[in-house]
Amino acid sequence: MYSNLFSSTIVQPKLQNRYEGKNLTPHLVSFRELVPEITSTSYLTHPIYYYPAKFIPHVVKYCIDNYTRENDWIIDPFAGSGTVGLESNLAKRNAVLLDLNYLLNHIIPIKIPKDKTTLDIFVLNKKLKQIFNNDSQFTPNWSNIDYWYPPEMLELLKKYWAGQKKLDNDLYSMIIQSTLVKVSKQFSYAEHKTPKLFKSKHKKEFIDNLLKKDWKSELINAMTTISNNTIKSINQYTNITKNNNNEILYFGGVDSASYKIEKNLQIDCLITSPPYLQAQEYIRTFKLDLYWLGYTEIQIKEISKLEIPYRKTKELIETETLNKIREKLQIKNLIELLNSYFYFTIVSLENAMTNLKRGGLACIFIGNPKVDGLEVETWRIFNEYFAEKGFLFRAIYEDQIKTRQLFKTRNNKNPDGMKSEFLLIIEKL
Ligand SMILES: C[S@@+](CC[C@H](N)C(=O)[O-])C[C@H]1O[C@@H](n2cnc3c(N)ncnc32)[C@H](O)[C@@H]1O
Repeated sequence: MYSNLFSSTIVQPKLQNRYEGKNLTPHLVSFRELVPEITSTSYLTHPIYYYPAKFIPHVVKYCIDNYTRENDWIIDPFAGSGTVGLESNLAKRNAVLLDLNYLLNHIIPIKIPKDKTTLDIFVLNKKLKQIFNNDSQFTPNWSNIDYWYPPEMLELLKKYWAGQKKLDNDLYSMIIQSTLVKVSKQFSYAEHKTPKLFKSKHKKEFIDNLLKKDWKSELINAMTTISNNTIKSINQYTNITKNNNNEILYFGGVDSASYKIEKNLQIDCLITSPPYLQAQEYIRTFKLDLYWLGYTEIQIKEISKLEIPYRKTKELIETETLNKIREKLQIKNLIELLNSYFYFTIVSLENAMTNLKRGGLACIFIGNPKVDGLEVETWRIFNEYFAEKGFLFRAIYEDQIKTRQLFKTRNNKNPDGMKSEFLLIIEKL
């Protein structure tokens, strides 16, 4: 079905020989150069929520422009902050987004607003005032919350959050919610430039110094600036997407290995970037945010148990490349991690492709991490597995990592020794 797309004029000339199909040597590309119309990774509403290991939008746009058509349905089973959803909507495609992280349900309504009415900064600021004057308190359902704040900051945040929760459930309220998520991390002992939740000495000093100043005004100013910037980027977005009425369905807090999407929904393309083999734990990263948003310890424990690759399995995926790595690996924990990673990632991909049309493509963007010094060619393993399941190899691109920020403090231009990321494209026959 898509063979025309592959050979059509939109394909960049230097990539035309990418169908030497059987030759599995990656074609070196730069997605930033292939998609020069995106000049910043944080354009429009992309940066509203912080999220580690976000897709660079260039890769997503490249896949959408080259392998899908207007009104097609795209699925992303590891949607994270919803980059695929935003780029799909911009290009008039529909999307289904799944992620274990509940945060997706808070991100999408403001990142990809359905209502195209221009929002009014005056209304937003009036609502902010209401919050600043609120006196009741919201206490997160977490026994550990006091550990992360000096008492006076915690008390103020509890009031602001209670104020936000009293607002009508509209876009203004969600903008303020996203702002509170940001400031509740910034005005805490938690190192907010790191994905992992931890109290750093440097951050403790910073907060102790802040307490000696007019910290309350600083917090109010931060909230006003952040929410005003957010409303501006939303207005920009709604303005240019006024005529885009495609659907973006999102399901945060679900396990992609088992979640069943609606039976009748025909999917044209999968575009995703799965978790990394030894990635940070996303749910742990967002613990503080999720408790403030109102999730309970039980809910967070439940999703943490399902996170790839930190869940247990006795099932084994076997492919030539994966078996070779397994043979060489000596450390039992690492073998278990490897087994769990490939089992659940592959089951999630397969599950998401249940409704993929014949001839539909899967675009999977992933790096080759090292485990105990051994390079794990993840894309090759996926390709070997799916070849056995009736998928046809279409292309493999290698994009050298320039500025994709996986995790801020690791300064991960080159995470875990990875120099590149790969875009594997396979077709369902
Ligand atoms: C590399 S991130 C995706 C980032 C995303 N491409 C973006 O642009 O924001 C991988 C995602 O996989 C999710 N994940 C991990 N285990 C999962 C599971 N069992 N089911 C669904 N999502 C899962 C994590 O929560 C994380 O958001």
